[in-house]
Amino acid sequence: MQQTAAQLQHKPSPLLLCASPRELPEPSRIFENPNPIEIEIGCGKAKFLIARAQQHPEINFLGIDVVWKWMKYGVERSGKRGLTNIKYVKSDAREVIKYGIPSWSVSIFHIYFPDPWPKRRHRKRRLITGEFLKLLHSRLTNDGLIELATDHVDYFVQMQGAVVQSGLSWQRVEVTRNRRLFEALAKTNYELKYESAGRTLRYLELQK
Ligand SMILES: C[S@@+](CC[C@H](N)C(=O)[O-])C[C@H]1O[C@@H](n2cnc3c(N)ncnc32)[C@H](O)[C@@H]1O
Repeated sequence: MQQTAAQLQHKPSPLLLCASPRELPEPSRIFENPNPIEIEIGCGKAKFLIARAQQHPEINFLGIDVVWKWMKYGVERSGKRGLTNIKYVKSDAREVIKYGIPSWSVSIFHIYFPDPWPKRRHRKRRLITGEFLKLLHSRLTNDGLIELATDHVDYFVQMQGAVVQSGLSWQRVEVTRNRRLFEALAKTNYELKYESAGRTLRYLELQK
């Protein structure tokens, strides 16, 4: 089958390839502009992120996930839609944020339905800890936000504990049940799944 001129044109992939998070270029070099940056940690299939990137071409978006099986949906869909303000990194978000993201550079971290690790012996694997919130806080711009959601009540209590353990003074800490604090054009896949299963969804918003 013959390819069209558009198909033959070189389109840069939304997937960032780097051997290690330490080699990630500065966001302004990745996107070739100085626009604000938002990061989704554990973006999965990136339903929320793609809708937000389409709605806000003036903002740059970075999706991070460790599992290619999920992330590939976001990469493929963003490529098909020709979105230039969204990129993906397949890596542990803790490493990417620590070594690849400069201080005072991120306007919003979105973290929706991080793996709950319900077994007691696995709880230490949970992403949200006081230390991790400290790291995110250091990367946020002034007034920057961290948006969190979970359907897991025990993890939600731990998240609130982590806010205290972070030892930081947040401008605002807000919690809700079954009501998103951060307006979204599209909810995440897990949000839709859990919502239709009738689970209680808990949201937490932190402002630097
Ligand atoms: C339960 S899913 C939620 C996906 C998406 N946020 C949603 O709401 O539909 C959790 C996601 O976090 C990813 N994840 C887990 N640990 C991670 C880590 N350390 N760094 C980046 N992503 C991670 C998993 O691969 C998975 O895609």
